[in-house]
This record gives sequence, structure tokens and C-alpha cells, in this order.
Amino acid sequence: MGVRDASREAAGCTVVVGITGGIAAYKAVGVVRGFVLAGFDVHVVPTESALRFVGLPTLEAISRNPVTTSLYDGVAEVRHVALGQRAELIVVAPTTANTLAKLAAGLSDDLLGTTILASRAPVLLAPAMHTEMWQHPATTANVALLRSRGVAVIGPAHGALTGGDTGPGRMSEPDDIVAAGLALLARRTGGTDAHPDDLRAERVVVSAGGTREPLDPVRFLGNRSSGRQGLAIAQAAAERGAEVVLVAAHLDADVAAEAAAVDGVRVVPVGTAAELAVAMEDVAADATLVVMAAAVADYRAAEIAERKIKKDDTGDELTLRLVRNPDVLAGLAAARVPGRLVVGFAAETAADHEELLALGRAKVARKGADLLVLNRVGWTDGFGTPDNEVVVIDGVGDVVGEATGSKRSIADRLLDLVLAHRAEPVRPQAGEPPPERG
Ligand code: CTP
Repeated sequence: MGVRDASREAAGCTVVVGITGGIAAYKAVGVVRGFVLAGFDVHVVPTESALRFVGLPTLEAISRNPVTTSLYDGVAEVRHVALGQRAELIVVAPTTANTLAKLAAGLSDDLLGTTILASRAPVLLAPAMHTEMWQHPATTANVALLRSRGVAVIGPAHGALTGGDTGPGRMSEPDDIVAAGLALLARRTGGTDAHPDDLRAERVVVSAGGTREPLDPVRFLGNRSSGRQGLAIAQAAAERGAEVVLVAAHLDADVAAEAAAVDGVRVVPVGTAAELAVAMEDVAADATLVVMAAAVADYRAAEIAERKIKKDDTGDELTLRLVRNPDVLAGLAAARVPGRLVVGFAAETAADHEELLALGRAKVARKGADLLVLNRVGWTDGFGTPDNEVVVIDGVGDVVGEATGSKRSIADRLLDLVLAHRAEPVRPQAGEPPPERG
């Protein structure tokens, strides 16, 4: 459910946003704002230590409600019980290791703890802490216990941490936390936009990352794909109930670490386009949805040098002879069976929207995909960034949707479009699927 779509569900609906004491508390303001913009009545419950990181006036101004941390304010109305009972959803962002431990133990020594215990609303936690704390067996056990009680956990993401180190521990992005909260709510209210398990019947195969074509034992031809968008699609599909296989060409290190940690996604690592083609053919055999988000090298070296290519042998100029790789997407589209949708991606250095559409239409006709996701890329756009902007066209080149936002929100939108496309009557494709190249 998108933020805009949520407003009709939100009227009169109370969301409690708990904030606990970590550096990421400043980002909680974005979470509060996201729910307010979506039309919810938002009540912020920071812990005392959260207020060392973010100011109470800011939280009151953004939430448009009074903010208190104390159990002893509003005693007459038994505030924690009142808030807990009124809440339709409780989100704690960030959740520190300490709060995870307290929640696992059912401690209620502050307003947040008592509110959560007094509530039967779904709870979403967005942990943020240093990698060592996140990976400590105590934290792992607390998270497992909370999950087993039905508590939802988003993140943490992998990335740069406050101490300058890098690893899993960063709080998920506010937009993603709001989207996950809305999905939980939709699941509870059974709203039409809900995607509780709406992909349960699907077997989804997603390719992601960039292939690497070796030139010699130490060098390769590669590309700048991070694999982030493909991982987001795999993750979203798994959370919506699908059985998911991620065929992973080279992924950025943080994306690879996240992929390894995602629940319900089987990762099949590949290197070259040829390896990717073989893996896709294998895992797509019984798939109901195939998404080719990987950036596949169109060419590979005609000969791979057995030993490192040496300048003494090649001189001032080196000419590489490359040969064409098979077009995996076109092959999968040509081989698809009824009930299987094949989705491609096209990253284009188009000058404008019109050129992007023209290039996309030619490509979808050439490849025979059911849907093609188009985005503009350049030296600075599209690669390795958390956000993306896409246009989706169908097999005859009609625009069926557009989306801007986090790669995760684009993933959910794309999956919505896939489901909508399934529901449509079959139309002829713009062109016959081409034979496999190579
Ligand atoms: N693709 C593929 N096999 C290839 C090349 C691309 O399966 N050998 C897939 C990509 O995974 C993507 C789609 O085709 O889903 C479009 O990729 P893109 O690189 O944009 O298309 P190309 O066919 O390489 O066209 P060009 O580079 O000429 O724009």
C-alpha cells in the first residue's frame, strides 16, 4: 500500500511511534512525518535517552500531538493503557539492543514498554546498533523470540555506521519503515491494497547484479550494477509469500551481505553471463514469475588468457576480441509457458522521457518480455543508490505504471503491476520473440 493510497485507511487511525536512544533517532522524525503525511493520528513515545538525540519540540511539531515519556504524566487517564488500546500499529524506530532485550523480557519500566504491553496492535521494530551488538547471541536470541511472538522486524540494513565502520546495523530508511508499517496495517485491516501473502502461490526467480566476463586470471569486464533493485524485488516477493530464488551475479558487498541474511530467499551465485543463463534456465523451469534485473554483459572475451596478460607482450595498444553472449531474457521469454510472466529491465542513457519510452518499446518488442521496467541511467544516476525512478511498459509498449522512491517501494509497485497484468486478458505481443542470440 503506497503512502498516498493509505490515507483512506488512515482516517481516525492511531499509530504510536516509539523512539529509543540511538544516533538513528534523528531519522525517526522521517518516520513520524511519513505516517502524518499518510493521514494517521501519530503519537510519539520516546524513551528518556531518545530525547538526548532528538528534541521533544521537534517531535511535537512533526507529530502534531503532545509528546511525553513519563509514566507519571496523565495518570488520571492511565496514559499507557489508553495509548496502547487506541493504537492500531506500534512502530519502534530505532530499536536499540537494550530495548530489544527489554521487549523480549516483557519489561515495562517506561511509557513505551507499558504501552506495548498494554496493546494488541501489530508491532514493527526497526533495529539500529553496531554490527557486533546486532550479531551478539543475546540480541539474536531476543530477536528470534520477538519474531516468534509475531513481532515484525525491518532491517537493520548494511552500511556505514556511526563509528566509521561498515556492516549490518543501520536503521532501515524511514520510507521503507513507513511502507512496512502500512503493509502490516493493511494485513490487519484486510484492506484492498493489502499484500498479505498475495504472492503465496508464486514461485519467483529474480536475477540481480552485474555479470563479470574474465579476460585473464585476474581481470574481467564488468559493469556498475549493485544488485540493490533485484534484491529489493526478491525480498518484497518473499515477504509477500512467494518462494524466491535470487540468481546473484556480482553484488556490491553490502547488498551481498543483506542478500545472505534475507529470510525465505535462496541465493544462487553466478559469475559470467553464460553461468547466469544456465542457472536461470534451471531455476526458472517451474517459476511463475521471472524478473531479469541483472545487468548481463552482451559480450565476452573470445579467448580467455591462461596467464596474466603482460604489457611486455601486448605493447602500447591492446585489442580485445569479444563475442556476443546469448540474450538470457529473450531466451526465457521465448521459452515461457502459460502462467509464467517474464519481466525485463532496461537501463538507458536516454536524453528524456520520450527517448526512454522509444528505446524501451523497441527493446520489449525485440525481447518479447511481458513487462519491461525502464529507467534512465548516467554517470551519476541509477547505480548503487537507494532510490530509483522507473516507468513500466507492457509487451505492446503501453505504459502500465510509473514509480519513484526507494528501491524497495519500487519493488512492491512492480509486484503490484505484475499481479494486475496477470488479471488482464491476454493481448498479442508487439513482435515475435527473437531467437536466442549468440
Ligand atoms: N539481458 C539478458 N541477456 C543479455 C543482455 C541483457 O538477459 N545478454 C537482459 C537484462 O537482464 C535486462 C534486459 O535484457 O532485463 C535489457 O538489458 P539491456 O542491457 O538494457 O539490453 P541489451 O539487450 O543489452 O540492449 P542494449 O545494450 O543494446 O541497449
